[in-house]
Amino acid sequence: MRGDIGGRVEVLITQEEIERRVRELADEISADYRDRCPLLVGILKGSTLFLADLVRALEIPHEVDFISISSYGSGQRSSGVVRLLKDLDCDITGRDVLIVEDIVDTGLTLHYIRQNLETRGPRSIKVAALLDKQERREVDVAVEYVGFVIPDRFVVGYGLDYAELYRELPHIAVMGPDEEAAAGAAER
Ligand code: IMP
Repeated sequence: MRGDIGGRVEVLITQEEIERRVRELADEISADYRDRCPLLVGILKGSTLFLADLVRALEIPHEVDFISISSYGSGQRSSGVVRLLKDLDCDITGRDVLIVEDIVDTGLTLHYIRQNLETRGPRSIKVAALLDKQERREVDVAVEYVGFVIPDRFVVGYGLDYAELYRELPHIAVMGPDEEAAAGAAER
């Protein structure tokens, strides 16, 4: 059954809650960037569903580009050592850049991306993240637009995966304890 992860799924954030919050974020972003044409930078692959809904709710002109990175994890922790798999297609000099991320966990990945893009001379850089696991933060990184602050649980759906599965779920779900333990070891 769709949304049923081996019978052990728990919906943390419903489809309706996501739709409402994404519209609110889009309104806030549209107001903050009025008279501008920001470049939205989606971090592949987790941000794709969030980005797709966000851009359709924006009321300002904007462009979209993507960046893809691979994190080298060490055991249960994100190491912050990152390899660039796909760079931006465009030059961001003088641009207003809005990084669009699925989830900020330790913050190490976002910290790397923010610093990397900062060296390219943009006019401004901000971050929109659908989910924020604040209690796991290891590095201080600014996240200007946050959808939901969530507890320290491994979540899937709405773009987020476990071993490339479950990205298509329309809601955010928490996995069962067995899968969560396995995901923690594999993904972080
Ligand atoms: P950070 O560097 O620890 O902040 O890791 C952020 C990345 O880890 C995200 O972009 C996700 O790809 C992945 N991640 C962290 N927590 C989860 C989760 O609960 N579910 C799925 N992916 C996660």
